[in-house]
Amino acid sequence: MVRWKIREMTRDHLEQVMEIERASFPTPWTTSMFLYELTSPLSFHFVASKRENRSDIVLCYIIFWMFRGEVHILNLATHSAFRKLGIAHSLLLFTLDFCYRRGGILYLLEVRKGNRTAINLYQKVGFASWGFRKKYYADTGEDAIIMGLFYGDQAYGTKGDEQTLLP
Ligand SMILES: CC(C)(COP(=O)(O)OP(=O)(O)OC[C@H]1O[C@@H](n2cnc3c(N)ncnc32)[C@H](O)[C@@H]1OP(=O)(O)O)[C@@H](O)C(=O)NCCC(=O)NCCS
Repeated sequence: MVRWKIREMTRDHLEQVMEIERASFPTPWTTSMFLYELTSPLSFHFVASKRENRSDIVLCYIIFWMFRGEVHILNLATHSAFRKLGIAHSLLLFTLDFCYRRGGILYLLEVRKGNRTAINLYQKVGFASWGFRKKYYADTGEDAIIMGLFYGDQAYGTKGDEQTLLP
């Protein structure tokens, strides 16, 4: 049984994150893209990792932006040796809870039309298909499905500092 904890992603995780990234996507993000996210005030970044010999072994990571009540999930991948163990699912649930506590309301992401695995995962946490972006992925010309979710009790109200999001 694998035990993992969710921690904030730091530069120390980047080498492992890049290995997972390269093995997971046809057009992987570059190291500088991850470095940018680590310093952007809009960006949040977490890893699910296990401890081994006093260091973190990265199993899964997620990057998302949150601005006011709106959350965009930008990147999510699980190490190929640790898939189908519920790790991405738990990182997504953590993300929803993290954002909910900070006023998150509307959650959006894009996924390749042919990525059944990821679509199943997002549906499992409540995302639904809201539309398409035709030929969104330049590398394969594949369409993106826009998936969305409302999660939060402030959808038509305000929270604290004027977070009115919807008309
Ligand atoms: C998509 C991905 C992140 C899932 O990670 P994971 O940790 O293996 O996922 P989980 O074990 O938490 O699975 C949760 C759910 O996802 C779906 N899922 C996961 N693997 C699947 C597979 N091989 N086939 C079909 N559905 C699958 C299922 O609904 C699953 O729930 P279930 O176990 O009750 O059936 C992983 O496969 C991955 O890194 N893929 C490459 C990168 C990628 O496509 N990222 C998403 C970009 S939008």
